[in-house]
Amino acid sequence: MTLGRALSVSLVGLTGHLVEVEAQLAGGIPGLSLVGLPDAALSEARDRVRAAVTSCGLDWPSRRITVNLTPAALPKAGSGFDLAIAVATMVGARACPAQSAARTVHLGELGLDGRLRPVRGVLPAVAAAVAAGYPRVVVAAADAPEAALVPGADVVAAVSLAQVLREYGADVAVPGATAVARLEPDRGRDTARGDLSDVVGQHAARHALEVAAAGGHHLLMTGPPGTGKTMLASRLPGLLPDLDDADAVEVTAIHSVAGTFRPGDGLLRRPPFEDPHHTATPAAVIGGGSGLPRPGAASRAHRGVLFMDEAPQFAPRVMQTLRQPLEHGELVLHRAGGTARYPARFQLVMAANPCPCGNAVGKGLDCTCRPVERRRYFARLSGPLLDRVDLQVDVLPVTRLDRRSGPGESTAEVAARVAEARARAARRLAGTGWRSNAEVSGRWLRGPGAPGDTRAVDQGLDRGTLSLRGADRVLRVAWTLADLAGIAAPRDREITRAVSLRTRGQAL
Ligand SMILES: Nc1ncnc2c1ncn2[C@@H]1O[C@H](COP(=O)(O)OP(=O)(O)OP(=O)(O)O)[C@@H](O)[C@H]1O
Ligand SMILES: [Mg+2]
Ligand SMILES: [Zn+2]
Repeated sequence: MTLGRALSVSLVGLTGHLVEVEAQLAGGIPGLSLVGLPDAALSEARDRVRAAVTSCGLDWPSRRITVNLTPAALPKAGSGFDLAIAVATMVGARACPAQSAARTVHLGELGLDGRLRPVRGVLPAVAAAVAAGYPRVVVAAADAPEAALVPGADVVAAVSLAQVLREYGADVAVPGATAVARLEPDRGRDTARGDLSDVVGQHAARHALEVAAAGGHHLLMTGPPGTGKTMLASRLPGLLPDLDDADAVEVTAIHSVAGTFRPGDGLLRRPPFEDPHHTATPAAVIGGGSGLPRPGAASRAHRGVLFMDEAPQFAPRVMQTLRQPLEHGELVLHRAGGTARYPARFQLVMAANPCPCGNAVGKGLDCTCRPVERRRYFARLSGPLLDRVDLQVDVLPVTRLDRRSGPGESTAEVAARVAEARARAARRLAGTGWRSNAEVSGRWLRGPGAPGDTRAVDQGLDRGTLSLRGADRVLRVAWTLADLAGIAAPRDREITRAVSLRTRGQAL
């Protein structure tokens, strides 16, 4: 009996685990069996590996081959083990003398023609390999720039199994010229989305957007069609500061697993913006799929903005799935092979028309909807969800006066104020584990250091227009207004303003 070994990595959520691939070749009926909880895609590896080896011009060993993936208890999904299986098998068959393969991590799917194909999740997989003390990784050429983002990784890029086996000393001809992966140039994600100065008028909504950016608050904009709601929402990421190192790695890892990361961009440094369509399924928003589940829009929006345009049109069960991430900042996906956790701490921005026909503004004279239709429309944004949205503003049609008043402030101008306000909040919250006012607990708000004058909040509670949770949310926004004003604590004025930023003045 002969043995060959190679390493690979299995991902469970964003966490990579080292997997040892061991091939035993023995006498008996020729065939290949895979042991160690392989999922369906892994079983197909059998055919791919065999075809890929043959395409290198090497003989497939006519022996009984048992490939063991350990630890056995670890769920293993996907096609990224192909390369390690092929290498371990050929080392075991004595086709190449490579002992170093046993200490090298191999990540890649094989085509039937022997081509090495890129896989999802290379960044977290390589990070896990380096952390486990195995910095040498072989990846598909297209994945090499992503792998190279991991500090300390020793990345070998290959285009084919033949190239890898030849590196290991096998006697194979490497066909043709090696194609080098072409990277798309960095497109500057924020600039593609436009500047705040493009938005005419809408002073109230612009202010709400600035407050949302400064305090990390969720935001609902309600207004008739064509008033700039979508424009405003898409400009929120531009107001947010760059991600710090740890967040950049985490956000990039999510997009790597989702298959939405272009390594030409380098680590993702800007807060992401995700805007699922209102026909999106729950899986599209929260994630799913067999094998290594794909993070959904809510996770891809981690540390950025999740924009639900035409929010009342989303299926109610989609909106309900948002409660878990809004409360816990992560999504737990239960799968046959185990449980995957993806971070999902995003800023929720929703846009809605005031009614199905969209015209229920002011006195609502142009609205053609029946009252019951209007009520039902907004009821689709469930109470508990809306209760988490600190900022709820009306976006009214642009007036002639607005149009003549010239361009408003630019993204850069507002972002500078947001950065200052965030720095103030960060100093105050240092050591609490919270980063922004939106995260702060109600108890802390009501504890020492809380603003003295809360008459506006008390009145709201007395009149029943504010719930206790609502009152906490008003205080959170009031702190953000204080941070933007550069003062030590909110005054009556900030609290009054915070109440008005939370109350939709709808004509319903
Ligand atoms: N305040 C505004 N300033 C500048 N352009 C605007 C403004 N409002 C609307 N527009 C123009 O109208 C187009 C539609 O705007 P936008 O999609 O943001 O409206 P909306 O409020 O989201 O409408 P809907 O409810 O139909 O989705 C924009 O592409 C822009 O050209
Ligand atoms: Mg819109
Ligand atoms: Zn209407």
